[in-house]
Amino acid sequence: MAEQALLQVAIDGPASAGKSTVAKLVAKRFGYIYVDTGAMYRAVTYWAMQQKIDLADEVAVMAAMKSLKISFKPGEPDQLVFANQEDITAAIRQPDVTNNVSTIAALPRVREILTDQQREMATAGGIVMDGRDIGTTVLPDAEVKIFLVASAAERAQRRYAENIKKGIDTPLAQLQAEIELRDHKDSTRKVSPLTQAADAILVDTTPMSIDEVVSTIAEIIKKQSSTI
Ligand code: DC
Repeated sequence: MAEQALLQVAIDGPASAGKSTVAKLVAKRFGYIYVDTGAMYRAVTYWAMQQKIDLADEVAVMAAMKSLKISFKPGEPDQLVFANQEDITAAIRQPDVTNNVSTIAALPRVREILTDQQREMATAGGIVMDGRDIGTTVLPDAEVKIFLVASAAERAQRRYAENIKKGIDTPLAQLQAEIELRDHKDSTRKVSPLTQAADAILVDTTPMSIDEVVSTIAEIIKKQSSTI
């Protein structure tokens, strides 16, 4: 039997469309590595905030990044994220980081550094990477590109349920407003804005369960593998 090709799978889409949950499960199903690139932008935001750096000061943020090594380890329910040896998995999901990460994500040279790190992680294939610009910028040659969307109301509802489990108590209406604001910032920023790659497949998860989304993407991957 021919060996299965190890593909690059890019999953992009707006905030809270379920990318991380789905990408992690898809990676598990195929024995692929999962990389949450949003967590990398969050890690830089956390690191800069810890050092009380002006987040819009790109030179200062880049200097701070020199002492930051971001790494991942498998974990349940969330993949563990480390800044050097420090476990920052929970810290990077706190509202202060969430509400400031767009500022960091808009810095072009910070994006270049993280993009290089992401490409390096993906060179051998066998990877599911989620973010905003994976199919368009980071891995333009990825064999599978998915653009995952859901209505803002549905995404706010999902984030609300997740937050409650983590003990974060932000009102639903506020979450929806924050999601809409982040969508706007992510899709209108100058560098690498959130856009669907021309060759990405659109999956609207609003009416779908997580299992249904994972199966849909798994089918797309299998179909694509069989053509390589
Ligand atoms: O997916 P998330 O909510 O964890 O992403 C956090 C922020 O990082 C979000 O504002 C968009 C930004 N981001 C980005 O600009 N490019 C990526 N590849 C991933 C995330």
